[in-house]
Amino acid sequence: MKVTIIGAGNVGASCASLLAQKNIVRKIILLDIRKKLSEGKSLDISQMLTNTKVIGITNDYSQSKNSEIIIITCGITRKPGMNRDDLVSTNAEIIRVVTKKSISFSPEAKFIIVSNPLDVMAYVSYMTANIDSSRVIGMAGILDSTRYRFFLSKKLNISPIDIQSLLLGGHGDTMVPLYRYTSVSGIPIKEFLSEEENNVIIEKTKKGGEEIVNLLGTSAWMAPSVSVIKIVEAILKDSKRIFPCSAFLRGEYGLRDIYLGVPVIVGKSGIEKIIELKLNQKENNLLNKSAHHVKSMISKLKN
Ligand code: NAI
Ligand code: 2OP
Repeated sequence: MKVTIIGAGNVGASCASLLAQKNIVRKIILLDIRKKLSEGKSLDISQMLTNTKVIGITNDYSQSKNSEIIIITCGITRKPGMNRDDLVSTNAEIIRVVTKKSISFSPEAKFIIVSNPLDVMAYVSYMTANIDSSRVIGMAGILDSTRYRFFLSKKLNISPIDIQSLLLGGHGDTMVPLYRYTSVSGIPIKEFLSEEENNVIIEKTKKGGEEIVNLLGTSAWMAPSVSVIKIVEAILKDSKRIFPCSAFLRGEYGLRDIYLGVPVIVGKSGIEKIIELKLNQKENNLLNKSAHHVKSMISKLKN
């Protein structure tokens, strides 16, 4: 098994480190456009001593040949005062170029997109790769739902591990965490807190990424990388896990020609099924608002 990670920055290098420690792949190629960066990071990761070969490469895609999975983490990040949407035109061009190069050497690969604005970048990668949409997966909902669980666990003083949650929509201020589908070890969340109290947690979740940007001057990478590796593991082990991921919609939830966060089953083929829930009017309105936002960015790019 061979996995290529494009972008050896904070997210890319952390993904390489976490994946190497799992000992589930034979080789990781860590590729960056910046000279020496991926070579240095790979050497450091290799000296943790795992059974996975980690090889750093500067911009030579031939080394990524026949990868099973390509993880795209390259591009610019937001700085304090910016939102994810401010990155769109710069990152779209980067994603287009790296997808084109990657698919030419790994025509069978599954792509996991991380770069922001996430749903638009997943769309750009899918359009460029011109492969089945099941093979292009956007990572964001897993991260957003772990943040939601984290804030809930603090409020309720219980373990975040026991909280199950689901989140729909785009990765940004329009994300839609679902109160009705949140539970603690099978107990509906409404037994613990009211919808109004939950709304406060949802607002905190929406600002979760920004909170870290304001503290660090750049965006988060540890929790995002753990979220990425969950998808990698589900593909490699064909474990049919259910995650909220950004997926291409063809009429599901009444939406089409868009990448948006929905619950999916992930296995060896990538996204094996999109799970369609019966949303109530309020949830549906929020999802449509989120879709409208993502669509408007896609339209801007197309123009
Ligand atoms: P970073 O700045 O630490 O790393 C980005 C790397 O991409 C740099 O090393 C840079 O040299 C490289 N790069 C730029 N253009 C390239 C190209 N054409 N080919 C190869 N490499 C190239 O950034 P970080 O923190 O790793 O974040 C990466 C991206 O992931 C950002 O767009 C960020 O907003 C996004 N992100 C998304 C998350 C999500 O939940 N979907 C979570 C965290 C970050
Ligand atoms: C986050 O939510 C930057 O999208 C990234 O932390």
